[in-house]
Order: sequence, then structure tokens, then C-alpha cells
Amino acid sequence: MKIALASDHAGFELKEAIKEFLKKHEIVDFGAFSEESMDYPDSGFAAAKAVADKTCDRGILICGTGLGMSIVANKVPGIRAALCHTVQYATLSRKHNNANVLVLAGRFIYKYLADDIIKAWLATGYDGGRHQNRIDKITEYERSLRC
Ligand code: RB5
Repeated sequence: MKIALASDHAGFELKEAIKEFLKKHEIVDFGAFSEESMDYPDSGFAAAKAVADKTCDRGILICGTGLGMSIVANKVPGIRAALCHTVQYATLSRKHNNANVLVLAGRFIYKYLADDIIKAWLATGYDGGRHQNRIDKITEYERSLRC
């Protein structure tokens, strides 16, 4: 799987730590590239757009709380970004929401929990069925915004 990775300075340490876990996948790293302060929209929009335009299959975005990256990613049409603090959230975000971007809170999630969350998120399929009607409504809304 080709995965777009992005963080800000607050997510940098966790981003680097999960690379080892993700090494069987192809990673496209949109930064941050150090712990020097930077703005999460700069790396977050680039990674989310790469998922939306299908350059990458999925995205994993990390900032301090995960909130900024969630807001950024969900502004990009076609992105369904889910901030997950537990394995169960990760599983449900795939089954029910067909989430194509996983967001993690770098300042609140330790590496081994992040690995478990990512493992579950990558391995879980989308249930479809009744959930598809709901996702179709989101897609219709996105289409209605186009001029
Ligand atoms: C950076 O200090 C912090 O605000 C950022 O990583 C993120 O948590 C914002 O939502």
C-alpha cells in the first residue's frame, strides 16, 4: 500500500517512530522533517490531496492533538479523516466511515499504541451496506459545493 505520511513538529517524533512499523509499505513523507516549529496545514493539505487524487492509497497524519490535522484533511473533497485514540475507533472508522486518512495525536499516543491502531486500521475493510448511503450524502454535499 502507498501511504502518505505527514506531521507537524509536534507529530514529528511519532511519525519517525511509526516508519519502522510501516516499512513493508511504500511511504511518501510530506514532512515535517524536524522538530522545528511548522504549520500543520503545510504538510497536512499536501498529504490529504495525495490521497484524494489517488497518488497515495491512504494517509496517516499526526499533529499534537490530532485536531488540526483532522480539520485540514476533512477540508479536502474525497477525504474521510478519522482521529483515532484507540484500536476500536480505528476499526470502526474503516468499517463504518471508510476512512481513507487516519489521524493520530502525537502528544497523547505512545508508539506501541500507535502501531496497534495503524495495524487495525490498515487491516480492516469497509462494511458498505447501510453506511454507503451516509457516505454518498457526504459525497453529494461535496459535489454541491463545486461551482
Ligand atoms: C502545535 O503546538 C499544536 O497546536 C498542533 O500540533 C496541533 O495539536 C493542532 O491542532
